[in-house]
Amino acid sequence: MSVPQAILLKNGRIIDPANKLDKKANILVEKGIISAIFAPRQKAPSLPKKLLSFDLQGKWVVPGLIDMHVHLREPGEEYKETIESGTRAAAAGGFTAVACMPNTMPVNDCQSVTRLILEKAEESAFARVYPVGAISKGSQGKTLAEFGELKTAGAVAVTDDGKPVSDSQLMRRALEYASNHKLLVISHSEDSSLSRHGAMNEGFISTSMGLKGIPHIAEEIMVFRDLAVADYTGCHLHLAHISTRESINLIRQAKKKGCPVTAETAPHYFTLTEEAVKGYDTNAKMNPPLRTEKDREAIIAAIKDGTIDVIATDHAPHSVLEKDIEFDKAANGIIGLETAVPLALALFRKGHVDASRLVELLSSNPARILGVTGGTLGLGVEADITVIDPEQHFVLREQDILSKSKNSPFIGSKLQGKAVLTLCGGRITHNLL
Ligand code: DOR
Ligand code: ZN
Repeated sequence: MSVPQAILLKNGRIIDPANKLDKKANILVEKGIISAIFAPRQKAPSLPKKLLSFDLQGKWVVPGLIDMHVHLREPGEEYKETIESGTRAAAAGGFTAVACMPNTMPVNDCQSVTRLILEKAEESAFARVYPVGAISKGSQGKTLAEFGELKTAGAVAVTDDGKPVSDSQLMRRALEYASNHKLLVISHSEDSSLSRHGAMNEGFISTSMGLKGIPHIAEEIMVFRDLAVADYTGCHLHLAHISTRESINLIRQAKKKGCPVTAETAPHYFTLTEEAVKGYDTNAKMNPPLRTEKDREAIIAAIKDGTIDVIATDHAPHSVLEKDIEFDKAANGIIGLETAVPLALALFRKGHVDASRLVELLSSNPARILGVTGGTLGLGVEADITVIDPEQHFVLREQDILSKSKNSPFIGSKLQGKAVLTLCGGRITHNLL
């Protein structure tokens, strides 16, 4: 797909928190770069003859969304997702960049896997792909991976996501070593001695359904450990997929004391609760599991007050082979790239956050935390732009999902708000207009 010479985005509501901008304006993109931003009634700069023009009355024009927690499954499980299909789904969901988790086959713990991902992305991706390397070799939690090598090959962060780093000394060394290499460390905070064999949140519902539960302390004990290690070393740590009220309390306190921590949650944790598991729907099974209404409310409060910095999907595609089976045997994870925008917009519609805060959570904050380009619509920057129609209603239908896997608990749900145009470096990667 080539980059059109010039694109004019007219009459949209430009929301760019990094530049403290929220106003109606036109944006001109030339050769993939934002070359002018001007008020609709202002005299236009001289416009190129060959111009692709979109009237975006009533739509939001925001910096390209960045999902810092995505499982693309390539290499190794291409029947679930590939770099091509996953980034196609990302573009359709309004994302211009994704950070891909290392729990592929083989694990991305060395330069050859990182390079392979970047080469495939170069050939086939519909969004920028930022590889995340493993913290430990094979994500086995024993010895550190070669961070220098991963960084040189193009990794932006390290994590053993999917599994915790149970050894605290290894976590401490990972933080120290990663900070020397300017790599972000992302923690999957879980005490597996408490969560092992669990299939859902532990409580009345798990007992009544006869499923082994995962207590909320399985997350909180490790969040506490992780915060202590970040505080002690002074090295930045990013906490993935936060799901419980007490985790939020711990992070809030730690941030107040100046602990160098950032945190993300996923749309399912502020949208659903463990109630969704009733009926044994394996599309409501993920790790960490859906929690209680009190936890959901605490996550929303944390999104409001800045305790949570990022909304990331934890897009985790699985096929029917791993999902259309007994609940306790089914794989953890749900897809999320194509539903993040409407689910996040619900927070705006309910008055929990304003539009600018939403854009921070989905674009400028992940860009800053990952240390990558994007997250803003300044002049001269590459045109990574997402246009959202906040009014569009739709029912999510399985046949419309672009991800190779269809494991979403939102199939059949009425949703509101949709990405209608996505530009990545000026290239049109998604267009419903
Ligand atoms: O639900 C999850 N799915 N949680 C994880 O930590 C891993 C992920 C996956 O890779 O499927
Ligand atoms: Zn994950």
